[in-house]
Amino acid sequence: MKFMSVVGARPQFVKLGPIVRAAQQYDGVEHVIVHTGQHYDPLLSDVFFRDLGIPAPDAHLGVGSGTHGRQTGAMLSEMDAVLEKYQPDWVLAYGDTNSTAAAAMAAVKMHVKLAHLESGLRSFNRRMPEEHNRIITDHLSDLLLVPTQVGMDNLAKEGLAHRALLVGDVMTDVCLATRDAVADDAPQLPAQVDPSQPFALATIHRADNTDDPDRLRAILEALKAAPVPVVLLAHPRLVALAKKHGLSLSNGSLFAVEPLAYPQMVRAVMAASGVVTDSGGLQKEAFLLGTPTTTIRTETEWTETLDDGWNILDPELAQLSDVIVRPAPTGDQGQPYGDGKASERVIEALLNFAG
Ligand code: UD1
Repeated sequence: MKFMSVVGARPQFVKLGPIVRAAQQYDGVEHVIVHTGQHYDPLLSDVFFRDLGIPAPDAHLGVGSGTHGRQTGAMLSEMDAVLEKYQPDWVLAYGDTNSTAAAAMAAVKMHVKLAHLESGLRSFNRRMPEEHNRIITDHLSDLLLVPTQVGMDNLAKEGLAHRALLVGDVMTDVCLATRDAVADDAPQLPAQVDPSQPFALATIHRADNTDDPDRLRAILEALKAAPVPVVLLAHPRLVALAKKHGLSLSNGSLFAVEPLAYPQMVRAVMAASGVVTDSGGLQKEAFLLGTPTTTIRTETEWTETLDDGWNILDPELAQLSDVIVRPAPTGDQGQPYGDGKASERVIEALLNFAG
């Protein structure tokens, strides 16, 4: 069985890591890796391949940044030749980025079977590019690999239950393994931040939070006024837009630094007293690592994190100063994201349904 992973953006490299390792455990499985080039900065791409033991991609589409239409269209036009060259049994599309939707459309048009990893998540916010990408990909896919029961329920409501399989979350596999590997390392923080005192870790990159200058200014002002130091891991999109609008990323309580590599990110989340974010993956990583989170969005796809108050939605930043650092809930979290073996179930599903 030959499958082709198509990835392009940072969270997809994190999901690819455990899939690479799982695929290596099975005889007769050939894994082709295609990098669309959506993320090209070394800190968003190369360091993830290095740290997660992912081999160099078999094909690199070199697409880079652009509007949604240009970026997605460029990927689509490059994919035909790659599919023709490698002739996979499956294309595996990951998550919800423009690279996901392009992989999905390319596969079905070339009559290659399509599987969607992290299927079934919905924000029900039709303004989000990620929501468009999820819906397109789920409805085109032959096999829906679902991380949560909530995802299974969403797919059932859209008439897709017969193609859906609950496998658990592959980000849990890699997060838990990395947690154990970095537990004794010192967290990598700016010199001004004392790791023995409470501090928060922040990331902001969603279009809804960064593209409108007034919205971005309000978020940065709230972080600068926080009662504890806030380490802002600044995505290039945020850096570019803050510069364009003349907004500073380091002031008051706020200290901006470059994005962290995956193991250092996990270590920093473990050390932080709170996380502030609009990232989907980070909300869930913080939950798994036991750090309370405040999410700067009106909704979340990972609704299980809201149970018991591990995660609080604060889109208007009304509560941020009160909740940014708060005690962790004490109840049993259960295992809403699986047991850390989702990636093996993914490979078994691809093998079982290849025929
Ligand atoms: C993308 C995904 C988002 C995901 C995020 C993780 C889409 C629609 N969005 O958002 O779901 O959460 O990745 O990081 O696919 N840039 C660089 N260097 C890079 C990549 C981007 O400087 O390597 C800058 C460029 O100014 C670019 C902007 O960031 O225009 C946005 O990049 P893009 O890939 O369009 O989306 P992300 O915001 O990274």
